[in-house]
Amino acid sequence: MHITSKIKINTNIVGLVALSLAIIIPLSGCVATEKKLTKDQFLTKEPVLNKQLSQEDFAFPSRPPKLSLGQTVFTQNCATCHTASSMTYDKIKDTRPIDTYLMLTRGDHGHPTFPKLTRDQRWEAIFYARYLAGGADIKNKDVASIFGSNCAVCHGAKGFADGPLFTGHPAAHELGLAPIKDEFDPPPANFHSYSRMYNRTDDQLVKFISEGVYPSAMPSWLGREDLSKGVVFNESLIRDLVKYVRQFSYEDDLPASSGSSTTSAKPAGKKSKLLSAAIPGAKLSKSEKH
Ligand code: HEC
Ligand code: HEC
Repeated sequence: MHITSKIKINTNIVGLVALSLAIIIPLSGCVATEKKLTKDQFLTKEPVLNKQLSQEDFAFPSRPPKLSLGQTVFTQNCATCHTASSMTYDKIKDTRPIDTYLMLTRGDHGHPTFPKLTRDQRWEAIFYARYLAGGADIKNKDVASIFGSNCAVCHGAKGFADGPLFTGHPAAHELGLAPIKDEFDPPPANFHSYSRMYNRTDDQLVKFISEGVYPSAMPSWLGREDLSKGVVFNESLIRDLVKYVRQFSYEDDLPASSGSSTTSAKPAGKKSKLLSAAIPGAKLSKSEKH
């Protein structure tokens, strides 16, 4: 009886050591110096992009833009010039949402401005335009579960940077081990942060996922395999993941049936020239630099 209880204690210790190693070893590659960020610091809600721009010129939306509202704004203000098929992914994949906002607000590239639209309406129209261009074209794909089994461990199932590897494994908490959070510097990206996500082009996000973000815990994914899902992380899957993570920073509340267009054969042209030619009567910006 004495012996049995001793063995039991030993197995407990072995189990504890094995568990702590299992949690700590995968992280040891990305241990950095201690720097604690509060949730507010990375859940960025900066209202103004740049101190030189007034609130009038630039501010992030006051709430996540809804595509259904964007559809209304777009129909009433943009559809006169933009048919659904004239919005192509080629045009938006290397444009930051921030730049489209500035274009609609300051008239960059000679684009017309919309002073009567509220800031939120402009953001709504932007994400609807991106949706029309195929920027959200993943509804019938299995991206959510691929994100769930490969990315959520750090980024969190809902993209709030609260995955178990970051916030701490529940089993580790039970054993009184230190929170794993301390090993992350910087913390995983929070996909709800406007100042992060609106400041990136899709092409940049593709690059970050493909190559990883060094020095941080974000690994490179290009060429990896998820055997349980039977997929390889090739460029097309990575681009779908970009469209997926973007959706955390706006709300796709459109019914699944109203599919977005992915393809359109419209010849590309020099943007500013095309604009001045296409909108002879439109209010062109004073400072057209191109
Ligand atoms: C008076 C016509 C006109 C109106 C109204 C208009 N646009 Fe445009 N827009 C253009 C032209 C012309 C271009 C450049 C040619 C192109 O890319 O099709 C353009 C380009 C764009 C682009 C692509 C920018 C890029 O980076 O290439 C976006 C996005 C866009 N407009 C969004 C909007 C939104 C949103 C609205 C409504 C709030 C709107 N536009 C209203 C004429 C217009
Ligand atoms: C081991 C933890 C970990 C895993 C797993 C992980 N990431 Fe990351 N990810 C991070 C960290 C840490 C950053 C860097 C944040 C920074 O530099 O601010 C990051 C950054 C990113 C960025 C760049 C955000 C930006 O600011 O531009 C994207 C996009 C991204 N991750 C997507 C993914 C996707 C998609 C997956 C799954 C295929 C994934 N991550 C898996 C930890 C992780």
